[in-house]
Amino acid sequence: MELSISKTSVIPSDQALVVIGKPGSKWTSFGLTAVEGNYVDSLDPVKKPLLAINQYKRWVFIIRPKTEPNAALMAENMRKLGCKIFSYLHQLYSKSVTVVDCGGMEQATLDFSEGLALGSYGFLKYKNPEPDENKYLKNILINSVKTNADKIRMLEIMVHAVFKARDLVNEPVIFLTAVKLGEAFKKMGKEAGFSVEVFNKSRIENLKMGGLLAVNAGSVDPPTFTVMEYKPKNAKNKKPIILVGKGVVFDTGGLSLKPTPSSMDYMKSDMAGAAAVGCTLWALASAKVPLHVVALVPSTDNRPGGNAVTPGDIITMSNGMTIEVLNTDAEGRLILGDALHYAKKYNPELVLDFATLTGAASAAIGPFGMVVMGNASEKIKTELKASGEAVYERLAEFPFWDEYSDLLKSDIADMKNIGGPVAGAITAGKFLQKFTDYPWMHFDIAGVAFRHKEDSYRGIGASGVGVRLLFHFLRSQA
Ligand code: BES
Ligand code: ZN
Ligand code: ZN
Repeated sequence: MELSISKTSVIPSDQALVVIGKPGSKWTSFGLTAVEGNYVDSLDPVKKPLLAINQYKRWVFIIRPKTEPNAALMAENMRKLGCKIFSYLHQLYSKSVTVVDCGGMEQATLDFSEGLALGSYGFLKYKNPEPDENKYLKNILINSVKTNADKIRMLEIMVHAVFKARDLVNEPVIFLTAVKLGEAFKKMGKEAGFSVEVFNKSRIENLKMGGLLAVNAGSVDPPTFTVMEYKPKNAKNKKPIILVGKGVVFDTGGLSLKPTPSSMDYMKSDMAGAAAVGCTLWALASAKVPLHVVALVPSTDNRPGGNAVTPGDIITMSNGMTIEVLNTDAEGRLILGDALHYAKKYNPELVLDFATLTGAASAAIGPFGMVVMGNASEKIKTELKASGEAVYERLAEFPFWDEYSDLLKSDIADMKNIGGPVAGAITAGKFLQKFTDYPWMHFDIAGVAFRHKEDSYRGIGASGVGVRLLFHFLRSQA
């Protein structure tokens, strides 16, 4: 059930309509009768920003948004309104809706449509009987004189990329193994036009990726390391930008087993970083953004079986560093260390890694944003934060002082894989930093990747976080 978003210049008379306007808009030119228009104008827009009119053949929803001086907040309010209207449309089994800009509300119309589209997502693959296709929203038509088809196309691509990421994250490990994740990326590469190579276990052994192999040691399924590359001829950057995503398809904690219920139950979402970077590449290639971007995904499940890596084990990473593994649940940093080391061979302009890395990040700021840290230039940091505000996937930068690395000192190896009781998100970041020698930022998305209760257009379950942030930021770099 693919949702289509397109531009239209008509106002159909038999489909649901959303009219976005200001007090005094010429409602009669946009589907209302004079009586209805007068009725709308008789009501205070502050008290009644949202009105529904039943025209029998269709419902018309009138939105008169409160102007909010903060553009990011205004956009977010419009997305939330879009999601709210979706729930009405869904109850009415609307298959198509036309969103009309009465004039001067172009951005609000696009933001509203974004929330409407993102809010329409559902993970229905495993529902019996199969959901009736005729009851789901399939078309969003945008009628705005000012907006061009290109902007709407970008919106459609972004929404589809978020849906792909949510689908991957919602998929349980019984289906989505590391091998299947690699296959999913291959399919996306063919679809959008980027190259995908999935390294198998022996290739990973040849690369001496001791972190990835250690985490995989307790699993019956092999690990994968996926390299995706989008290199258009007209790329603006000489050196590639590299995205790295944590691809733990399930995190039991390994021998340092997570308690269940509560902390293990949703660990199928521990590959949300991988989904974010792979689906961003899909979006960039689909949109033909002139930028050379590589995405790297180390992937495995983390289990206590067989010869599972054991607390006290000392492993050797691909960069030669030895790691004393004192907690097998701190596995993300082990697989990411190998991936960040691999990234060096590209001589990258910038590396951004996305990972559901620590409960500490989630505990520190809750589900309202992601924790970031790193050594990219102030300019890049400012631009990333601006993109975060614009798409409302906000970034909270944590301190990254050298002293934090002292907490990772091991008596018998080069480093241990856990810090102490304090600053867990930062010591995880410091661990990763040891594998970098380029401008880099680390995004800990543990608090935002998966929602346990409905959160407007972010939905329930996988949020697809990271895709909109990266798509916005990378387009701004092109
Ligand atoms: N995948 C988890 C982090 C996580 C927690 C993601 C909650 C999503 C929601 C990660 O591998 C982990 O277990 N981290 C440990 C690290 C600790 C052992 C140093 C944690 O945060 O407890
Ligand atoms: Zn873990
Ligand atoms: Zn994990």
